[in-house]
Amino acid sequence: MKLKLSVIGCGYLGATHAACMSSLGFEVVGIDTDPHKVELLQKGELPFYEPGLDTLLAAEVKTGRLTFTTDFSAVADADVHFICVGTPQSKDGLAADLTYVKSSVAAIAPHLKDGALVVGKSTVPVGTAQALHDYLAEHAPQADLAWNPEFLREGFAVEDTLTPNRLVVGVANDRAEEILKEVYEPVIALGTPWIRADLPTAELVKVAANSFLATKISFINAMAEVCEAAGGDVTVLAKAIGYDPRIGNRFLQAGIGFGGGCLPKDIRAFMARAQELGADQALEFLREIDNINLRARQRVIDVVRADLSEDLTQYKIAVLGATFKPDSDDVRDSPALDIAAQLSAAGAQVVVHDPKGIEPARKRFPNLDYAEKVVDAVKGADAILHLTEWKEYRELDPSVIGQLVKGKFLIDGRNMLDRNLWRNAGWRVHALGRTD
Ligand code: UGA
Repeated sequence: MKLKLSVIGCGYLGATHAACMSSLGFEVVGIDTDPHKVELLQKGELPFYEPGLDTLLAAEVKTGRLTFTTDFSAVADADVHFICVGTPQSKDGLAADLTYVKSSVAAIAPHLKDGALVVGKSTVPVGTAQALHDYLAEHAPQADLAWNPEFLREGFAVEDTLTPNRLVVGVANDRAEEILKEVYEPVIALGTPWIRADLPTAELVKVAANSFLATKISFINAMAEVCEAAGGDVTVLAKAIGYDPRIGNRFLQAGIGFGGGCLPKDIRAFMARAQELGADQALEFLREIDNINLRARQRVIDVVRADLSEDLTQYKIAVLGATFKPDSDDVRDSPALDIAAQLSAAGAQVVVHDPKGIEPARKRFPNLDYAEKVVDAVKGADAILHLTEWKEYRELDPSVIGQLVKGKFLIDGRNMLDRNLWRNAGWRVHALGRTD
């Protein structure tokens, strides 16, 4: 008989996992404490923007295999339970807040059937899995626990779930591995590398991967700072070092740095956990990675001030992009929105445009001005800041935009616009890390 699955937490990770597992033919119940979210999902509607997931979700709900509820007792029928709840940064420090992970395991424990396997997918500080394992041993000894970190990127969530570049499972015994092999059988059949680890290693793989990616981005942004000081061009530098396969050319896009719900909080939580373990020196470098990242945002504000004026109260600035990256409506720790908010706090009139992120941005920063159309955002602006690299911004006609603005000054915070095109249309262009 085919295994039945439950997914606890239906945000980006959980909703994607639930829909993808259903598409592999499993019966899946998704559980979330937010009744509004559950209502939408149950109708086959996605509460956030993720390319391709909307159609997949609608199709899977229609088959009847995929259902959603707020009722935790619905897990009673399932054999495998994926914990996909958030682990945000705590309000009072760098560490991850494990409230939702702990409460969801506690909520399902009384309903777990004999032989059930609880599988953690949330990003957690190392040691959490063992603590949950011990909790289950006491409160639901009939169940077992494994850890199966998730590496999906927003914007590519479906692709990364169904065709991941590896599957990592932290298990305490062969049986748990066999169950997970049964779940992922179609994915394994594609030739996906399968890595069995112990619980702490599986937890660490995730934060190590995100730390490495954050390091790559901050490395190239540090080079951007040096290029600006020395008269170099970071985009040429990145291209040149990227040809060395040991370095690789991906994740070397210099600009205003990384944001989102994962990289920033994961490196901070990793540092906090290392400190608890007495290994803080090992991760001291991550503090610098975080500093370089935040400095990239500040550099944009410095350029605006240097070009317009120290006093920004008389200036209108158009910000193109609010989300932390394109093809997402996620504005969590968005560098673009952070810059917009800081400029607004400095007295500038800031108007923000984004193809998908205006509503979530407005919720976070209700005091900023928002425009539904680029032409409305740029009208009368003294400077345009390109801060999230949506495709539609690369298709803008600088001559048309030039007729709407007050000052033809562009900062390309993502190094993605064609500088020559803009310059030929009479614009002054500042691209981060490029001096010519
Ligand atoms: C990241 C990881 O890439 C995923 O593998 C991981 O599963 C996920 O976190 C997670 O922990 O759940 P995501 O947050 O979707 O995925 O975003 P990324 O594509 O990693 O981008 C992060 C940030 O770095 C964005 O703000 C992006 O603009 C920035 N970035 C990325 C750069 O500034 N330069 C680059 O070269 C690449």
